[in-house]
Amino acid sequence: MSAHNDDSQPEKVDLDDPKLSRFDVYREGLRKDGIEIIHYEPRFAKPGTAAEKRMERIVSGLFLLSGLFATAFVAAYIFWPWEYEGAASWREPQTWYTPVIGITLGLSLLLFAVGVLTWAKKLLPIEELVQDRHDGGSAKEDRKFAESTVDTTVDDMGIRRRPFLVKAALLGAAPLGLAAVAPLGALIKDPADMLTVTGWNAEKYNEGNPVRLMMKDGALVRPDMVSAGGQITVYPAIEHGASNEFPTAPSLLIHLREQDAELLRENLYPMYQDVDALWGNYVAYSKICTHVGCPASLYEQQSQRLLCPCHQSQFNVVDNAAPIFGPATRHLPMLPLSVDEDGHFFAKSDFLVPPGPGYWNRPSLPEEDEQ
Ligand code: FES
Repeated sequence: MSAHNDDSQPEKVDLDDPKLSRFDVYREGLRKDGIEIIHYEPRFAKPGTAAEKRMERIVSGLFLLSGLFATAFVAAYIFWPWEYEGAASWREPQTWYTPVIGITLGLSLLLFAVGVLTWAKKLLPIEELVQDRHDGGSAKEDRKFAESTVDTTVDDMGIRRRPFLVKAALLGAAPLGLAAVAPLGALIKDPADMLTVTGWNAEKYNEGNPVRLMMKDGALVRPDMVSAGGQITVYPAIEHGASNEFPTAPSLLIHLREQDAELLRENLYPMYQDVDALWGNYVAYSKICTHVGCPASLYEQQSQRLLCPCHQSQFNVVDNAAPIFGPATRHLPMLPLSVDEDGHFFAKSDFLVPPGPGYWNRPSLPEEDEQ
């Protein structure tokens, strides 16, 4: 089809004229819709030239590569080892899990988008249209125009003439669709007790012996290490207890001032009273914000509040760490505390409610404790 430059006034067209080409009907249809073709020029003057075939191969290659990376993403997502196994170095495959799935999916989407753009820019006809807006429904005649428009567009895209390109696009798009759906598979896997059991669980992680509190460097924690009004971050004294293997275990041990400890004892929920969760004037709360899991560790002794720096949630330390400001809606769980005969703090049990952000079937506080 040759280039059309149309500066003249449109003439009335007889649609029953057998000499009319499909392009003429297409143009007339556009005119009826108030669209005027200003310029129309096929990208390649002669179909099937070597240059056109080369461009087809480039676009096909982009789609096929996109499909290849999408397939690699799905394979890596399912089979690449990702679980934490101690302090991993760059040589361990789990260190590369996130980069691998990010790069493969990113490249797949990028290549598919470049393929579509290249198809549009290098194979579709150059077309300039001007359209007037108008109201109203579609008459029978308009529907005929619409049909020829769709047919012309299909021909312009070369869907009939370029079966290999279409197959390549489909081959690229199919794994890409799978890549979009594959992550939903993670919802199938039962997280078991991953969300409810932490490193403070003596039965699971310390052969039934109470789990002591330690600092990041492994030093066991004694009461005289925290002065009144002070606080430190503590971890379960088990192997890798201060590592990412136990992301929900970090807690804040606070030595309350006398009057604050008194207030907390008055407000203490029955479930914490039952297990005698405080030790003297010391209390420990989960450090993982119940909003989306940032460390809530800014302790304001004067206002008795714990602040989370991420979105400014605040928790009342003398009222069971109840949320009193910001987006968090749940308390920070309290870790029941005591001191053994060697003078070291230990956890009397795991948290009584799961720490960290909420999830759909998360057990909540007993009803009377929510009051
Ligand atoms: S994570 Fe703490 S307020 Fe959002």
